[in-house]
Amino acid sequence: MHYFYFMPFLLVYSAVYCSAASPSLSWENDHLKKKVGHAVKSVRFIFPFSNKTSKTVSIESIEASCGCTQAKPPVLPWLIEAGTQQELEVFVNVQGKTGIFTKSLTVVSSLGKNELTTTVEIDNPVLREMSPAERERNLFQSKKNRQAIFTGECGTCHAEPTRNKYGPSLYEAACGICHEARHRASMVPDLKGKIKSESAAYWRQWITHGKEGGIMPAFAASEKGPLSGSQISTLVHFLAKPEPETKKRKGVIRSFGTPRSGIKK
Ligand code: HEC
Ligand code: HEC
Repeated sequence: MHYFYFMPFLLVYSAVYCSAASPSLSWENDHLKKKVGHAVKSVRFIFPFSNKTSKTVSIESIEASCGCTQAKPPVLPWLIEAGTQQELEVFVNVQGKTGIFTKSLTVVSSLGKNELTTTVEIDNPVLREMSPAERERNLFQSKKNRQAIFTGECGTCHAEPTRNKYGPSLYEAACGICHEARHRASMVPDLKGKIKSESAAYWRQWITHGKEGGIMPAFAASEKGPLSGSQISTLVHFLAKPEPETKKRKGVIRSFGTPRSGIKK
């Protein structure tokens, strides 16, 4: 898998290196960067360039490093007359992506190859700091209806990030957002002394039902929360006090005991 990712890179590198000495299209900037919000699906880049040679240059093809990146030349081959300026439009699909997303394109012309790079920085809404006014509004909404945090705009930070997560990363997304927050409200208790020391039943109860009449929401899908039964099980396993070794071993021996005696008979 890695080998295939690397191949185009090698080709591009050697092509750029070999053509460095000869004249080529002149790009105003061969690495463009943009910052976008997390809900953005596609990012548009414009690469201005010019043909500073005395001959028409033909752009034959434009190859992207992934299917998520698409250049939109008006035609191919694209003839760039001597002394003229043009713009290449590029779209990068960032749907479902997080963090910093860098992609490259290779422009193949009659003068050789040029590599262009795009970098998209996708804002992480969950790490954004709330303003005091937002915090007040959120708290007010939760006091009215503690399940409100899983729907609408609230859900973009409190429900969507929990999707397809399990165990420790689920704890971070679902619980840490409130319980580990630096700026958390005083009513949000510190769980540090409880993690790995309370029982599985304790955690399952809190996660499934939350606190009626409080702020802590019910996370179970059966109570209109975002978490499936298997997600809750991995979370409970991560948070609960480990079962004593002897008890575990006994269980294993017992479960192996029955089929063995069955075979002997
Ligand atoms: C919206 C913020 C918020 C989120 C998200 C949240 N909690 Fe809570 N939690 C609270 C608040 C507030 C309380 C205190 C009780 C109340 O007022 O509802 C609480 C109480 C608790 C308690 C009781 C602790 C004690 O000392 O009494 C446990 C355990 C707990 N939460 C676990 C979790 C777990 C596990 C998750 C993730 C599945 C989670 N919480 C997600 C806000 C939150
Ligand atoms: C942009 C992401 C984001 C959105 C949207 C969001 N929250 Fe939160 N929420 C957080 C973070 C982060 C915290 C941790 C406390 C902090 O940093 O202010 C938090 C904490 C909370 C708390 C615990 C109380 C506190 O202030 O510590 C409640 C209750 C809450 N949010 C409810 C809501 C509700 C209701 C909505 C929708 C009206 C909502 N949140 C929308 C990110 C978000």
